[in-house]
Amino acid sequence: MEIQLNLPLSVDWKEGELFFLDQTLLPNEEKIERQEDVKQVWDSIKKLKVRGAPALGVAGAYGLLVGIKPHLGLEPAAFLGKIEAVAQYLDSSRPTAVNLGWALRRMVAKSKTLGGLDSPSMYQALVREAQEIHQEDIACSVAIGQHGASLVQEGMGVLTHCNAGHLAVSKLGTALAPMYTAHSQGRKFRVYADETRPLLQGARLTAWELGRAGLDVTLICDNMAAYLMSLGKINLVIVGADRIAANGDTANKIGTYGVAILAKYFNIPFYVAAPYSTIDLKTPTGKDIHIEERDKEEVTFFGEKRTGPKEVKVFNPAFDPTEHSLIHGFITEKGLIKPPFAQNLKALFG
Ligand code: MRU
Repeated sequence: MEIQLNLPLSVDWKEGELFFLDQTLLPNEEKIERQEDVKQVWDSIKKLKVRGAPALGVAGAYGLLVGIKPHLGLEPAAFLGKIEAVAQYLDSSRPTAVNLGWALRRMVAKSKTLGGLDSPSMYQALVREAQEIHQEDIACSVAIGQHGASLVQEGMGVLTHCNAGHLAVSKLGTALAPMYTAHSQGRKFRVYADETRPLLQGARLTAWELGRAGLDVTLICDNMAAYLMSLGKINLVIVGADRIAANGDTANKIGTYGVAILAKYFNIPFYVAAPYSTIDLKTPTGKDIHIEERDKEEVTFFGEKRTGPKEVKVFNPAFDPTEHSLIHGFITEKGLIKPPFAQNLKALFG
């Protein structure tokens, strides 16, 4: 039976137009914003109005369409050049989640197979490609849910970090998909959501969407996880991923690495849920992953309120790489991937 979450879509393509749910306003306001031009798409990605690795892939593919539509009058060769330029521009908005560049490269590669078509026909073929990327993302999250659901057992406490749920993909999420699926199968368990400083995706998004979908969710500050684990309240950790290197090292929201180290200390299984589009075999290890650094104001302010001195130096990496040795397994649309990761991740693409 199909799981219906009754939540707003983070990315939507309707009658040739692109819409994003502005996630920066949640949980206070549900505002859908039409994306008028490619600059607006770039800004929406940069400002995290749309965020989460798989959603960024889908947003990028449709965003490319927004960017090339004004150029339909160009000759095919010039139009192809425009497609590459727009893809490069959108890819510059956020560096760590591989899905954005992956989807844009796929759109550009598709455009190169369209020789002989005029520009409007090329555009239509690219619309179909973006819709395919979108449909694949939906199918991946459903399959991740099915493959991961048996990990979530009756009575468990499950910890997650950041938001890797419905809002971060096109349907159930990655880390949250096994939880939604286990819930739909009638199991009762409790989810603990790390608030996820500095931008509070766990508090604003994960706690909101799980609560709206009827799951039992408890919000904690990031610094409470160790104590909670010591009390025996966490039996499983599932997080999402922004980029999985060839050896299994995984970049996810800043703070994930600390959670993984804690999980190891307390002997709690730590799983990463992600679709194939998040696996980047061209990046050998976590040390090779480009970690996005963001504005200092995200740290010196709490919402509108200044909470750090104006002149203080700030380090604000948005992600951290977790070593593969801390990861029990990957929950993918093709099943659970266990160590040795270098070999088993590669085999996924075989
Ligand atoms: O900065 P964000 O909110 O885009 O970071 C998102 C995360 O780190 C998610 O855990 C990751 O993208 C997986 S989303 C299914």
